[in-house]
Amino acid sequence: MHIYRAAVIGCSRMGAFIDNEVVGAPGHVPPYSHTAVFAACDRTDLIACSDLRPEVMAEVGTQYNIPKEKQYTDYKELIDKEQPDIVSVATQPEHRAEIVIYAVEHGAKAIYAEKAMAASMAEADAMVEVCERNGVFFNLGTQRRWHPGFTKMKEIIDSGELGTPKTIIFNGSTLFNGASHYYDNLLFLNSDRRAVWVQANLTEGNWSIEGERLTEDPIGHGIIHFENDVTAYAVTPGREIEWEVNCEKGSLTALPDGVYRMREEGPPGYRERPTIVDGGFLDYEPASPNLRLVEDLVHSLDTGEPPRGGVRVAHAGTELIFATIESHLRGGARVELPLKGRPIRLLRDRAPRQPRYSPQA
Ligand SMILES: NC(=O)c1ccc[n+]([C@@H]2O[C@H](COP(=O)([O-])OP(=O)(O)OC[C@H]3O[C@@H](n4cnc5c(N)ncnc54)[C@H](O)[C@@H]3O)[C@@H](O)[C@H]2O)c1
Repeated sequence: MHIYRAAVIGCSRMGAFIDNEVVGAPGHVPPYSHTAVFAACDRTDLIACSDLRPEVMAEVGTQYNIPKEKQYTDYKELIDKEQPDIVSVATQPEHRAEIVIYAVEHGAKAIYAEKAMAASMAEADAMVEVCERNGVFFNLGTQRRWHPGFTKMKEIIDSGELGTPKTIIFNGSTLFNGASHYYDNLLFLNSDRRAVWVQANLTEGNWSIEGERLTEDPIGHGIIHFENDVTAYAVTPGREIEWEVNCEKGSLTALPDGVYRMREEGPPGYRERPTIVDGGFLDYEPASPNLRLVEDLVHSLDTGEPPRGGVRVAHAGTELIFATIESHLRGGARVELPLKGRPIRLLRDRAPRQPRYSPQA
């Protein structure tokens, strides 16, 4: 059994310590962070890490047994010297594309990139080009795609027992932080069909657009229409994320905390109108979505088959982010996809967070 050598670049919360923030969270199954996943996966060996903050890396070294000489402040040196098979990039999106492109051009065979994919469409385009040219597998850290509950929901949609999907309702969110997850899950639930237009707005907040620079991560809401006539509505109820997939003969709802509910065709109602009735809760085997994401990359490396995610799907979700911004800039107008004339780039003025080194801290 081949063991793949993995390295993590960006060792803060998502890179290494986020498990300490979610202990006991309802529905949560560890491992969550990139280092925790590589440590837990029996097909990967965590061999090195990189961060600009040596003190954060030192703690990663202590907790994950990475010796000092394998802790790099220069990610290029790590890639050149260690030649990892799988490179994780858990920095902020402003730093993602440059690192992914370097890793792909210098020997990485698979990339596990955190969401959001990139800070601009030009960067996302470049990431697709470099991964495809080099035959490198790519999964974005939009973990719902590997969640066993959403996988079950998707299986029921695909079975056709509820008829054709018509609408999907979910929560609008900060585009790069939250909607990067939700747009990907929307694509997943709709079988990665092509979005044809977006009509959206951004809520007021501490963001602004200065020339081509987006200064903060805005909240978006609106409508996305797909080639298979499914229409999705990103709404902002101001509470926890829920999903509702409405099909011709029933609906599926993902409630917070990992609970999934079905409603199915009922007897004709008032004036013979169609009804739907309680169809019970969905059973599924809980599992760590991020471990499944890495196992998916391992499967691709073993077999050459594409992963469940992939760089094109990541690009499609990213395009929805920038189409949401573009629609807002055009006064909420309908923006046709593929998106054209897309110069906006996210560039926040922010410092990295202090990760929590233990559940008690
Ligand atoms: N999938 C999830 O559920 C989830 C949860 C939290 C965060 N995230 C995502 O993970 C990413 C990281 O989030 P965070 O909160 O851990 O970020 P953070 O800002 O706390 O940390 C980013 C880290 O990257 C390091 N870094 C920056 N440039 C680097 C470079 N050139 N080389 C090496 N290291 C570099 C910084 O020093 C810092 O330690 C974000 O994109 C975020 O959206 C995902």
